[in-house]
Amino acid sequence: QSPVPTTPTGAPLDAEPTDMAQQGAFLTTSTGTRLRDTDHSLKAGSRGPTLLEDHHLREKITHFDHERIPERVVHARGAGAHGVFVGNGAAADLTSAAFLREGVETPVFVRFSTVIGSRGSADTVRDTRGFATKFYTTEGVFDLVGNNMPVFFIQDGIKFPDVVHAAKWHPDREIPQAQTAHDTFWDFVSLHTEAQHHTIWAMSDRAIPRSYRMMEGFGVHTFRLTASDGSTTLVKFHWKPLLGVHSLVWEETQMIAGVDPDFHRRDLYDSIEAGAYPQWELGIQVFEDTEEQVFEGIDLLDPTKLVPEELAPVQPIGILTLSGTPTNFFAESEQVAFHVGHLVPGIAVTDDPLLQTRLFSYVDTQLTRLGGPNFNQLPINRTHAPVNDMLRDGMHQSAVHGGVAPYKPNTLDGGCPFVAGDAENAYVDVPRAVPAKSRTVRELPASFDDHYSQARLFWLSMTPVEQDHIVQAYTFELGKCYDETIRRRQVDCLTRIDGRLAASVAAGLGLPEPTAAEAQPGDTAPSPALSQLGEEWPV
Ligand code: HEM
Repeated sequence: QSPVPTTPTGAPLDAEPTDMAQQGAFLTTSTGTRLRDTDHSLKAGSRGPTLLEDHHLREKITHFDHERIPERVVHARGAGAHGVFVGNGAAADLTSAAFLREGVETPVFVRFSTVIGSRGSADTVRDTRGFATKFYTTEGVFDLVGNNMPVFFIQDGIKFPDVVHAAKWHPDREIPQAQTAHDTFWDFVSLHTEAQHHTIWAMSDRAIPRSYRMMEGFGVHTFRLTASDGSTTLVKFHWKPLLGVHSLVWEETQMIAGVDPDFHRRDLYDSIEAGAYPQWELGIQVFEDTEEQVFEGIDLLDPTKLVPEELAPVQPIGILTLSGTPTNFFAESEQVAFHVGHLVPGIAVTDDPLLQTRLFSYVDTQLTRLGGPNFNQLPINRTHAPVNDMLRDGMHQSAVHGGVAPYKPNTLDGGCPFVAGDAENAYVDVPRAVPAKSRTVRELPASFDDHYSQARLFWLSMTPVEQDHIVQAYTFELGKCYDETIRRRQVDCLTRIDGRLAASVAAGLGLPEPTAAEAQPGDTAPSPALSQLGEEWPV
């Protein structure tokens, strides 16, 4: 046991300061000195000059000057809510994670977001939405950092800065504040054709949700569950809103963005405060953990692919209910720090090359955004499990560490209770096969080559009204692209998805009717299972 730290007088040091900032009835300085006047600075005579010696004036202005922190490099605009997750036990045979056992209640904080716009941008723009959930489990924090679309633009995280630079505002004019209405976006997705699948989702009504309460969520990547007996399975996580999936129509998004740019956050807070708590079912698609990590011809490590629910049904494993709004937006929605590496025993990552890069990126960006390495001590990020780490000091350290020997084993701090491998319920890295005789390469496997078949499947699964909306969205967004070469190149990509889609968009843009696509890289045939599904939904 570490000795309890004490003050010089021997009183125990309070290592758990109160989270609420306002204490007592009187206005004070930040160091607790009571103030008599906060409206008049100290001056030499009533007409000045103002005196540098006025500590309260200097403290008040200095602190104000430093109120802003950098906004998130992506997902800057968002809104969060508190709630509870209750497991139903259906995953208990697949994972040792305690929070997924039947009836276990786990507090959560969820942050919904747009991806591209700045912190002050409008809610109803056409964009992907973030859906990030922090589970404060008894075994540590688990973050499920997902989106409202099941696939992503790129297959390898090394392209993430590129796709974000292409989708964010142009560097010269800093417009637009939406994902899709400009030259660089269309330049990128028509050249990096693995982006075509996510792009058609972004052109669909999924990109203009009616409410955060009516969005699905997806972990996107394949994750690995480990059971108590050491067996493993591969899974994809899904959130399904009990209110169903609903979208706005384009004209509504335009009007709302003007009339009420806070539409989605207002809707979230108002519904919770009215007692209409939004709920989602968490579900998993389950796949055998084979060496290939392929299911029905779909490479499970390729984040531009989904697995149709017809081939792998989503099995419910628990219910999320959001029932509390933030007390303070900054302390909760702004300071929350999600990370795909925040895992608990029973849940592990896979080799998906996008996920692997994310494991590095989140903590790295938060070191800047939240000012140093101690942001997990902020109230919203604090785990509900006991913490006993060997991390020390650093900017904004607020924990008081006892003892003298932050290393293990040691014989100084009352002996060493830590013996490697004996900790019950410890996180164990899943032993994974590493391909023998592999060489270091900069390449993706051939199984990632198919860029169009799932975009086609998505298009074919739409109703005629939804297809019309998709045609109108491509036409509108590409109409904002000034460069005709890029517009033509994107229409050429559409011919690889569907001839009628390409022809309709070309007509809307005043371009000549496109000719049938010639085979090109990225145009690999879909797996037989996917082809069959496509045939069930003819245009
Ligand atoms: C936020 C990086 C892919 C979902 C962020 C942030 C970064 C980042 C730097 C800001 C975090 C912060 O400031 O706290 C990356 C990289 C990716 C990637 C490098 C690919 C290599 C994805 C994917 C998804 C996703 C595939 C969805 C499955 C989110 C969400 C947030 C976020 C929901 C907002 C979290 C919040 O509300 O605070 N990402 N991201 N990202 N990312 Fe990613």
